[in-house]
Amino acid sequence: MRCFPSRLFSILRKGKALSSFEFPGEYYEIMRGDFRDLAAETEFLSSLAPAGGRVLDLGCGTGTNLRELGARGFSCLGADQSACFIEYARGRGGEGVEYVHGRAEDFVTDDRFDLVYSLFMTLNYLPRAELRGVLRKVRGLLRPGGHVVLEFGHLLNFVEGFQQHTVGHHRGDDGVLITRLARQAINPHAANWRNEETLLVRDREGRVSLYDNFFDQAVLTGPEVRDLLDDAGLRTVAEYGGFRKEPAPFHGRGPLVIVATAKDGDSE
Ligand SMILES: C[S@@+](CC[C@H](N)C(=O)[O-])C[C@H]1O[C@@H](n2cnc3c(N)ncnc32)[C@H](O)[C@@H]1O
Repeated sequence: MRCFPSRLFSILRKGKALSSFEFPGEYYEIMRGDFRDLAAETEFLSSLAPAGGRVLDLGCGTGTNLRELGARGFSCLGADQSACFIEYARGRGGEGVEYVHGRAEDFVTDDRFDLVYSLFMTLNYLPRAELRGVLRKVRGLLRPGGHVVLEFGHLLNFVEGFQQHTVGHHRGDDGVLITRLARQAINPHAANWRNEETLLVRDREGRVSLYDNFFDQAVLTGPEVRDLLDDAGLRTVAEYGGFRKEPAPFHGRGPLVIVATAKDGDSE
């Protein structure tokens, strides 16, 4: 797939997408860097798998986390529904890192993993009706003693973060400037958050392009996710407010990070 500007509406017309993320991966990487603490994420994830262990990133985006884990000697697989992001991730390579293009709901493999994770609210992007099935599948993918890490946005996170219109600027090291114009809406009946954004990109040669990005996110609650984990045969072993193991705030915003293992301490 070529990641041309403003392909969004043709993708939506074909009825293929609940989220698009079909724009060049290098621009996503610039924006991600402004929001995330990659060093803390890498440290956190590395501590949950044995040396050289097998790792799966569901909704891996441009492969940012997997490249770091691959460099630390883990054997890595990533799956993502964005053709542009997977193309970018494959182009970046990385020791011991492979990618599958496809939706988490459709992901099947005979492989088993020491660590399965989904970061940066990717759980919220999955259709709510599919969550139960995806988590049961994740349980079945674990090796004995394996861990699951889910970082998701919850109700208060969405409510406190709500702004109808936002404008953000993100700068790459090489002169790239991304202006992100986002329009947001919450549908309380469906507990759905819709984000439509226009990315206005000035590239390193000074050319300007526009990309549309669109996504729906399920407004999840902590109790809902804990119930889903329980139903899937997974036991929560820790909850944090971030990857530096900040305590999950009793009140307040910010995503929740849940670490879980198989309830019986084993896998299939
Ligand atoms: C905010 S990005 C996070 C990407 C990556 N986890 C990271 O931390 O950079 C959300 C990602 O979820 C992916 N995504 C959305 N729905 C998905 C689905 N149903 N199956 C697999 N990936 C999905 C998008 O393509 C996008 O790459």
